[in-house]
Amino acid sequence: MAITHPRVWSIRGGGQHAPPKDNIDWESFGFGLNNVRTDKMWLDRVSTAGDGDSTHYSTDDSQCLVPLGDLQLSPTATVLNYGQALFEGLKACRRPDGSIAIFRPDKNAQRMAQGAERFCMPVVPERTFLHAVDAVVRENAAWVPPHGQGALYLRPLLMGTGEGLGVKPSSESTFCIYASPVGNYFKGGIQAIRLQAVQGFSRAAAGGSGAIKASGNYAPAFAVQRQVKQRGFDEVLCLDAASGEAVEEAGASNFFAIFPDNTIVTPSLQQETILPGVTRQSILELAAAELGLTPVERRLTLEELKQAKEAFCCGTGACISPVGSISVAQADGNVTDEIVFGSSAGPLTEKLFRMLTGIQTGSDATLSQKYRHWIHVVEPANQKVAAER
Ligand code: PLP
Ligand code: COI
Repeated sequence: MAITHPRVWSIRGGGQHAPPKDNIDWESFGFGLNNVRTDKMWLDRVSTAGDGDSTHYSTDDSQCLVPLGDLQLSPTATVLNYGQALFEGLKACRRPDGSIAIFRPDKNAQRMAQGAERFCMPVVPERTFLHAVDAVVRENAAWVPPHGQGALYLRPLLMGTGEGLGVKPSSESTFCIYASPVGNYFKGGIQAIRLQAVQGFSRAAAGGSGAIKASGNYAPAFAVQRQVKQRGFDEVLCLDAASGEAVEEAGASNFFAIFPDNTIVTPSLQQETILPGVTRQSILELAAAELGLTPVERRLTLEELKQAKEAFCCGTGACISPVGSISVAQADGNVTDEIVFGSSAGPLTEKLFRMLTGIQTGSDATLSQKYRHWIHVVEPANQKVAAER
């Protein structure tokens, strides 16, 4: 169904973003490419000296903003052979006044920088990262859905794209950001998801790359994800590799449980097996400051989850997804236990969902003001030109 939207513009400093495209059924969009192609992407290929010290990523829009298109790679590229690749995920939302804001992009820049150090790629400086993210949003502003109807999802990639057969860091690094509009995670009310933990499956072990947003962390979970979906569950819940008794995170989101003593517990990052989510960190802060809960980061076993009153997963893509139940299965699918929380969001989970999305989309004016340091406003194009003159 074709839908038209009223034209809304940012009026900050007289600049204005392009309004959302007409005749797009934004409400039909899920988390995916949704059969649309945005206009521009950021693409910067730099040769590396190996140690990264002499590498400079560009901030030149005229050079790096290019039409969204295919990348040319040698089959010998390090990223293809040895998985030297990182990615990030952020959302840009259109706010009620027509301005466009991104939630805590500095945190994504910092996480990618940590990954780059670990994967021996030259770090993209935070300033460059933010400049590139802004440029991609600005160029694709017409693809930012109307307020309340989704977001423009941004996917920064950092890859070793140089040629070479030797097992060593690439001689070339590519920093790319593409964008795709995505729908609201929940349409018509927050729904609870059903998780299954599979004994013997864990995503990361201590000393591995679980705390890095490495592309190669995801494909190893595809088979078990497919299995749990075939069994009727929404997502796999990853257990710790050491004991198989503690929960770590879901396939693409962090995990929280709220207990009757008003502690809100999430698995600790100490073993470096869990992705340090931007949403996770924000929820720890919001739960304490706005709901008076006691945030705790520690080991969290399946057994003690039976005492929890609410549980949820969270992430940029997943937003806050209430957990309805956790099934525990052996590798062959034989279910050994089930923990049930209920078929809808618990009251505290729902409050956190409303607060977080209220800040991200600007729909909660009071909280948006209070947490304005979490919000990065993308200046419209003509305002930027004026500022640079
Ligand atoms: N854990 C994993 C494995 C993820 O892929 C993600 C998504 O990015 C998260 C947690 C949540 O991280 P964030 O809140 O930064 O999106
Ligand atoms: C995100 O939530 O942004 C992610 O990157 C997780 C997933 C889509 C892989």
